[in-house]
Amino acid sequence: MGNDADQAAREVLRDNDRGTYTVPTDNLYPFQWNWDSCFAAWGFSTFDVPRAWVEIETLLANQWENGMMPHMVFHDTAPGYFPGPEVWGTGRTPPTSGITQPPVAATLARAVYKADPDYGRTHMASVFGILLGWHRWFMTERVERGMVAVTHPWETGRDNAVDWDAAMGTVDTSGVGEYKRRDLQEVAADQRPKKAEYDKYLAMVYFGRECGWDEAVIREAGPFRVADVGMTFILLRACRDLLAMARDLGEPAEEIAGWIATLEAGARNHWNPDGEYFDSIDLRTGAFAGALTNASFLCWYAGIDDARMLGHLERQAAALTYLVPSLDPDHPEFDALRYWRGPVWGIVNTLIGLGLAETGHDELARRVRKDSRRLIEASGFFEYFSPLDGTPAGGGHFSWTAAVWLAWASPAANERIF
Ligand code: GLC
Repeated sequence: MGNDADQAAREVLRDNDRGTYTVPTDNLYPFQWNWDSCFAAWGFSTFDVPRAWVEIETLLANQWENGMMPHMVFHDTAPGYFPGPEVWGTGRTPPTSGITQPPVAATLARAVYKADPDYGRTHMASVFGILLGWHRWFMTERVERGMVAVTHPWETGRDNAVDWDAAMGTVDTSGVGEYKRRDLQEVAADQRPKKAEYDKYLAMVYFGRECGWDEAVIREAGPFRVADVGMTFILLRACRDLLAMARDLGEPAEEIAGWIATLEAGARNHWNPDGEYFDSIDLRTGAFAGALTNASFLCWYAGIDDARMLGHLERQAAALTYLVPSLDPDHPEFDALRYWRGPVWGIVNTLIGLGLAETGHDELARRVRKDSRRLIEASGFFEYFSPLDGTPAGGGHFSWTAAVWLAWASPAANERIF
């Protein structure tokens, strides 16, 4: 299957290529998404390094003046897509959303650079300052007690994860009104977020739009502020890669080293002593979410080793056919096919697997990679899969699943990138 699957994966990326950016999948997601594009770039770098850099540079050209890098860029129109540019009301050209997404860009840009350092050097030099500005925005606007605060669940990339349930409880949806969801025309409703959740997502977007996406207002008065364990780990890792880039380029590194120290200390604040795992926290109440998710297992990727986290992963490995579930199967809300409340996601598996390999946990690293490979070999490049029996779900022909196949899960790929 190896070579054929590699070929099929390249075709997915080519099919979803819109010239200067790649859509996650046609119809369901017809624009450029931030972290999806970074994974797509990494996938392209296995067979077309110049195209990989175009992907990254197209995304990063849309940075806001305050340093924020939006989670979506609406390069083209897509009639019927909801919520589209007019709902976000950010007034930019091209239009963007008003929130961010997991900052994998520094890490994956560095991986693209490694694929061909001679070609990549000038590109890395040109994106370094943009990435530095984005990370600085996180550190000044969003980091509290060393943890990354998110103001909308969509920022986390794990839209309907259990982590947000309690914090969303107080979101007022009375002004939301009627709307038509695009996602339900493409995917079965039981594999997507519920309407009550969607109403709250929209209420949070409307709040941001009405205050002109003013971070200070959103921080003080916004409906939602949660320290996301996934974002903290991803930013911590991204800062390590930014530091490596700074050294390669001969740029000053002290500021970045300071961010790493802050985030390393903050990561400890994510530790939930009751469940004994890394957890998200509602910053308004101080309460832990009580959710052991695939984001909790990004600790190794962030360079933080913990034997108790290994214990949780070993327990799941014994209980499940496929690692890593997006919610612990012992959690009462576990739902094998509902989006971020149970299914396995190839991209998160990749980051977990890389982290395990880098920290020397070879057996679990191999298991996570093998499971990812088996899921994709059996069903193709789907958005997510059941951890119980591998049922593929969500959208098909998915860019980031194809990308992580090429860059990591394929037998032809390496289990480590650095
Ligand atoms: C969904 C996912 C998010 C992803 C987007 C595009 O919203 O939850 O992580 O970026 O789709 O694939």
